[in-house]
Amino acid sequence: MSIGHAPGKVILCGEHAVVYGRPAIAVPVAEVQAQALVVPAPAGQGVIISAPDLAREFPLHTAPGDEPLARIVRLSLEVMRLVQEPDLTITVTSTVPVARGMGSGAAVSTAIVRALASHYGQWLPSRAVSDLVYQTELLYHGTPSGIDNTVVAFGKPVYFVKDAGWEIFWPGRPFMLAVADTGIRSSTRVVVGELRGRYHADPALYEPLFDRAGRVAVSARASIERGEIEALGRLLDENHALLQEMDVSCPELDRLATAAREEGALGAKLSGAGRGGNLIALITEETKGRVDLALRLAGAVNVIMTTVQ
Ligand code: MEV
Repeated sequence: MSIGHAPGKVILCGEHAVVYGRPAIAVPVAEVQAQALVVPAPAGQGVIISAPDLAREFPLHTAPGDEPLARIVRLSLEVMRLVQEPDLTITVTSTVPVARGMGSGAAVSTAIVRALASHYGQWLPSRAVSDLVYQTELLYHGTPSGIDNTVVAFGKPVYFVKDAGWEIFWPGRPFMLAVADTGIRSSTRVVVGELRGRYHADPALYEPLFDRAGRVAVSARASIERGEIEALGRLLDENHALLQEMDVSCPELDRLATAAREEGALGAKLSGAGRGGNLIALITEETKGRVDLALRLAGAVNVIMTTVQ
């Protein structure tokens, strides 16, 4: 039996603008995890993929080419040079909330690649894992920037510029985030697609917004590296305002942001595609209890506390 794991993630700043080539920052959230278990099966069974959380179980050979779990299994077997379909049962479970901007698809795919690599005694560098997972992100998102698969595969804070490269970097001092779930499912593909439509209708309106979001990401990285957490908080607020101008927020996210700030969060913003999903608030040991309660009273269905280090 072989196991693979992967964390969830949140985008700290720069979402959406990253699709248009501006920098963004994402950080892993280890409090939520995807897990894949590979168990040898009787000869002739082939590969069975089981996802009990989703009440799904299917043989690989009947799955269509655009089925994301089947795609990552096929890609992994190809990379491991397995020409004949092996006999295996792959069971996938995950505590990463689905459709909330926490990278659930990337986490599940990463866990599968790692479990298969471990099963076959192969070591795949995180970059190779990330590249494979990107192929399934195309199915989930349509035009993914690549930031989700990168942060999930490396499990470290990532400064990311699409098609130009990315860097792992280290905070000057750890900081804490509250990740508050609106309870509203949000399709990254739909929100990104709608913004693309608005962008093409009026690029002159959106280019400056993307530029400003990119500058926020540059400054945020510098603040994080210097351990200047108050400055980071102000940048998160500024980024939320830009995302509102891009029209990807919603009243529920705005309400959570206000509630968190009123109880002492240093900054708060939507994270991921928006129109639902999660809000992140920058908190400290002193404010975490108050902010947690305020977020729940303002409608959050769940709040996860995570430390970025
Ligand atoms: C999704 O987690 C982040 C977006 O910027 C889309 C992407 O980067 O592919 C909204």
